Amino acid sequence: MKKLVIKGGNKLNGQVNIAGAKNAILPIMVASILTEEGLSLSNISHVKDISTMMNLLASLGIEIKFDGFDEDEGFEGRKIELVAKDISNSVADYDLVSKMRASILIMGPLLARFGSAKISLPGGCAIGTRPIDLHLMAMEKLGAKIHLKAGYIEAVVDGGLKGAVIDFEKVSVGATQNIMMAACLASGETVINNAAKEPEIVDLAKCLNLMGAKVSGAGTNQVKIIGVKKLHKASHKIIADRIEAGTYAVAAGITGGCIKINGVDLALFDGFADVLRDSGVELTQISENIVEAKRTANEIKSVSFSTQPHPGFPTDMQAQLMALMTVATGESIVEENIFEKLKSNPIYVAEMNGQNVFDFKKEEPELTLVMGSESHGPSEFWKKNARAITIPKKGKSEIESLNVAQACAILLSRLG
Ligand code: UD1
Repeated sequence: MKKLVIKGGNKLNGQVNIAGAKNAILPIMVASILTEEGLSLSNISHVKDISTMMNLLASLGIEIKFDGFDEDEGFEGRKIELVAKDISNSVADYDLVSKMRASILIMGPLLARFGSAKISLPGGCAIGTRPIDLHLMAMEKLGAKIHLKAGYIEAVVDGGLKGAVIDFEKVSVGATQNIMMAACLASGETVINNAAKEPEIVDLAKCLNLMGAKVSGAGTNQVKIIGVKKLHKASHKIIADRIEAGTYAVAAGITGGCIKINGVDLALFDGFADVLRDSGVELTQISENIVEAKRTANEIKSVSFSTQPHPGFPTDMQAQLMALMTVATGESIVEENIFEKLKSNPIYVAEMNGQNVFDFKKEEPELTLVMGSESHGPSEFWKKNARAITIPKKGKSEIESLNVAQACAILLSRLG
């Protein structure tokens, strides 16, 4: 998508179906490498990372069928079947890896089933340096030999991976997933301490267990995996996307609308439900699998929050909540603790408030102050500095050359 064109000024009301979580689909697609028998997945959203992952897996020789969209079943009708009978290639090139950091997840399954993997070092990531040291350290603990050569990670193991105790010094979603998958086919027991606890980790464990793996403790900070010789065929429905659901709740809050969010339970909002409620966005489970989000008062109240690993406030909701805070009364302090580069996201939103007071605390770069107002128009700063953006209070907005997350945050703040 190169450009979004949005006509603002309306309340957002209605019902939406929530698709499967992109962050669960990607690792679970990769888990198909662990069996020759095939993996069938449903509730698939249609986002670019999923096509990129299909291309990456196809480049390894995995057979993929994408069943597309079935109107009656909604997202549930979208299915992918992946069969990794054998692989014709264990090298993931820069062209594919640089498009998507989750490509690194193929390392564990390739090592576990085929004993080697050669993956280009990830680059081109939109949100900061994002090292992969935790992935590499843990693979070495399982017995892999790793060399970094000419821009590639070359990993091999003789005689199969062996279970081990892995103590992560930092919580990493991707590294936890990579090791969980690798350990499924390693000999003996693997214990992951300080594991990530995100719902997408739990969904991966659920799918691996359906494939015959022995994974326990997913969703706590200690995950145990007892290796098995082989995994088998399975079908799995992907968990709903909490970030997509949360984004609609924010949209209801910003515009003063009421949105019925289908396919989710309140528990999926853990970590950011309190921030939404404190700001004046009510979340109610109105029936099984439907949560209603609506603004409860005329004004949105400012709330301060700080991003943390699950069950803390998710970094992937930071931009959306920041947009909500620009229409709040009072000031909010937002602290980004997961990704270095996301600390600059708020600048885009806050600068649009430039006519009001805007203060990015340079001396404390992890803190951003957003001053709320219902009536912001494009500031002098923005008019002078904007390269490809015009933002009327109402009417048409066009945004080019920004990454989509930033663009969405800005656009959401305009809808009210
Ligand atoms: C996943 C999500 C992403 C989300 C992020 C944090 C997917 C496909 N993506 O990304 O949407 O924003 O979790 O919730 O699920 N780190 C290291 N060394 C490593 C690995 C990570 O220092 O080897 C650091 C990262 O730079 C970052 C932090 O750990 O500061 C968390 O990263 P991680 O949880 O690994 O994020 P991803 O799995 O890449």
